[in-house]
Amino acid sequence: MTLWNGRLPDTAPEVRLLCDSFEVDRRLYAADIRGSIAYARALRRAGVLSSAEEGAIVWGLERIRAEFAVGEFVVTPGDEDVHTAVERRLGELVGKELAGKLHTGRSRNDQVATDLRLWLLSEVPGIATGFLSLGEAIVAVAEEHLEVLMPGYTHLRRAQPLLFAHWLLSYFWKFSRDLERLDGLAERVAVLPLGAGALAGNPFGVDQGFLTADLGFSRPAENSLDAVSDRDFVAEFLFFSALTGVHLSGLAEDLVLFSSPEFGFLEFNERYLTGSSLMPQKANPDPLELARGRAGTLIGKLCGFLSVLKGLPSGYNRDLQEDKEPLFFAVDTLKLLLPLFAGVVRTLEVRPERMEASLEEEMLATELADYLVKKGIPFREAHRAVGRLVRRARELGVSLGELPPAEFRMAHPAFDADVRGALDFRGAVGRRRSYGGTAPERVREQIALAKEVLAERRGDAG
Ligand code: ARG
Repeated sequence: MTLWNGRLPDTAPEVRLLCDSFEVDRRLYAADIRGSIAYARALRRAGVLSSAEEGAIVWGLERIRAEFAVGEFVVTPGDEDVHTAVERRLGELVGKELAGKLHTGRSRNDQVATDLRLWLLSEVPGIATGFLSLGEAIVAVAEEHLEVLMPGYTHLRRAQPLLFAHWLLSYFWKFSRDLERLDGLAERVAVLPLGAGALAGNPFGVDQGFLTADLGFSRPAENSLDAVSDRDFVAEFLFFSALTGVHLSGLAEDLVLFSSPEFGFLEFNERYLTGSSLMPQKANPDPLELARGRAGTLIGKLCGFLSVLKGLPSGYNRDLQEDKEPLFFAVDTLKLLLPLFAGVVRTLEVRPERMEASLEEEMLATELADYLVKKGIPFREAHRAVGRLVRRARELGVSLGELPPAEFRMAHPAFDADVRGALDFRGAVGRRRSYGGTAPERVREQIALAKEVLAERRGDAG
């Protein structure tokens, strides 16, 4: 028995296999029931249902919600999706005639769009909390190791010294932008499609202002035809997830690299490592590698879903049912990865001695050029002079500081004895006092700012 069996015979079995989506969309049950309860109220307010009918329907829907919640909902072969399953069960509980009235003026097209938006909105706070935990872990570790120096890299070659905290905090701001993106897209999720019907709107006078408020949306959709086909919010969420995945994969990569014995800057808590089936000595960062790989899968979900949307004719098309699997995947992935990364970061063992031992004097070449600049030499000329000095030190097999004064003077006559003062890692870091720079006072400021961001968000979360 299908919802449309007044018109068509039973479908071929392959059709059911392709079209049925209950196993995927059953997780929308709470949103579906919430939407239906609001719609029953709206129908009563519009005079379509009596108070007694509304009461019976709400009772039935609440009972179905309880059945789902305790795992007692019994699916039957005719249940095409969660909406038909709930409707069928409601008929069993309150009578088919009354259950049928709930669908007055409502299509599964406005229903499913409403459900998916409601469901996604209910997931937003949990994802936001994941970002906050990760942000807090980053700030705590940065603060604890505020004075530790490490090599900063470009092209994975040692470039200039940094504070370790500065490196770690660089990820805080990426995740902070991700969280802002989540806020921004959530505003666009909170637009109500209910009342759009199949495509043209609702002729029964249901009050969309009431539905908007009752379901916690911010406004009704401006155009019913757009409302039933608009999945921009899914695409936006998938983009937000993919970019978050890109950021997590970058952090994973840095952590895997810096914790390798060759670097030895960090060590993972052993609870975040897995062993090898053959080599007894191994302790591998598989979880972070999987997270790094998962970012690729998230990008694939975004590309795949954009391809589903591309070139669809206007109105609802069944292609849109493909929205759920990638959206659920993205939400589940973020809910798994964000707390995992928070745990990994929070329990990192930091090895300051290894980081500081990796600082090499060549990383101070810029300081030597800047020294000359302070003596009035144009930077390009200073750059060339120091370049010669670096080459000379390499030829002689010594560090810059070990070069005799004559070599300095040969490279540029403006070099004086006080040049040794420029060869100081902490000095190099301390001089970078520009806003957002790596000087300790700026990093302290950065931590204070990060804490403000977190406190404000924690406050919002209540
Ligand atoms: N399960 C469907 C979906 O997710 C519900 C809408 C079905 N609408 C239709 N016109 N066949 O999109």
